[in-house]
Amino acid sequence: MKIERICILGGSGFVGTQLVSQLAARGLNVRVLSRRRETAKELILLPTVEVIEADVHDQQELIRHFRGMDAVINLVGILHEGKVGRIDLPSARRGDFQKVHVELPRKVVHACGETGVNRLLHMSALGANPNSRSAYQRSKGIGEALVREAGRTHTEHENWYLDGPKFVHGYGLKVTIFRPSVIFGRGDSFLSMFARLLKISPVLPLANAGACFAPVHVEDVARAYADSLDNPATYGETYDLCGPKIYSLQELVRYAGEVIGKPRSIIPLGKRLSYLQAWALEYKPGKKLMTRDNYYAMETDNVCSGGWPSVFDFPPAALEAIAPEYLRDDTPRARYEDYREGARR
Ligand SMILES: NC(=O)c1ccc[n+]([C@@H]2O[C@H](COP(=O)([O-])OP(=O)(O)OC[C@H]3O[C@@H](n4cnc5c(N)ncnc54)[C@H](OP(=O)(O)O)[C@@H]3O)[C@@H](O)[C@H]2O)c1
Repeated sequence: MKIERICILGGSGFVGTQLVSQLAARGLNVRVLSRRRETAKELILLPTVEVIEADVHDQQELIRHFRGMDAVINLVGILHEGKVGRIDLPSARRGDFQKVHVELPRKVVHACGETGVNRLLHMSALGANPNSRSAYQRSKGIGEALVREAGRTHTEHENWYLDGPKFVHGYGLKVTIFRPSVIFGRGDSFLSMFARLLKISPVLPLANAGACFAPVHVEDVARAYADSLDNPATYGETYDLCGPKIYSLQELVRYAGEVIGKPRSIIPLGKRLSYLQAWALEYKPGKKLMTRDNYYAMETDNVCSGGWPSVFDFPPAALEAIAPEYLRDDTPRARYEDYREGARR
């Protein structure tokens, strides 16, 4: 069946905005579900895109909005859970990893099953693993397994973490799962965050400086999604998405400094100090730079074991070909985006 109508959860975010634009450019009809329509205002202008304010955690709302769709894409994810120590963030509370990365995918597959939408693309993350020490990676790993299970035609319960009263049925969905390494591009929250830090601090003590990443461009991630939609070869598959080169965190931060003309001293911290820095930053009010959970996630390198999946017939872009353009951007619009990012709006 040709896919023409797609419902996207998380379509207002960094990856989502890029993906929705690419799908709209292909003439597809896209319905974006957002908690606040205002956060997706750039998308409202696109002719084949509708943005609907919805509580995606409400099972009945999901069912209502999935009706008549040919495919669903779930991009929703969070990097930090709010509650740390005695401080609670209003935007993300303890238990949110479970709610967002496990319960939501469960509701999404159920709503697909109820409405007969049988194509589902799901965003996981490289390193997702039900046995990880990091709660982020653990919850992503369980969510990913749930979605994979929904791709079966009957339920099998060999996985302990899927058992229990709320297990997922084998809905026989055509699922494709994506596991990117860190994603870069205009509006990212990784390289841009370090570039912002380097502008204001002459020296940067860096936790987990040796952790390795293979940054992948946001346009490539979005294109992999868009190309998969109609491609039967991707049904039931899981794709690790990495850029062409591996960097340590220290190399990435040094590179960001060079690009913006702030080649600062970077002091790599040992294990114990890295943990302490993560612990201290967890308590910092406002936008989270680092938490102990991030520290645990970085204990394992975030790199792919194979190359770029051959099913996608384009090569992934190099960081050096893209990053200078947006990291160096000092136009009023870029500064406004920086403030907006800082204010989490
Ligand atoms: N960025 C990376 O480097 C990276 C790397 C690997 C994997 N990923 C995964 O890729 C996906 C997209 O990442 P991104 O960087 O685009 O994230 P993002 O910019 O933060 O966007 C995430 C979207 O999810 C929705 N969302 C956030 N918290 C939610 C909640 N509690 N309940 C319901 N919806 C919520 C938001 O939509 P509304 O505000 O409109 O409701 C938002 O647009 C995530 O699953 C992430 O884990 C990202």
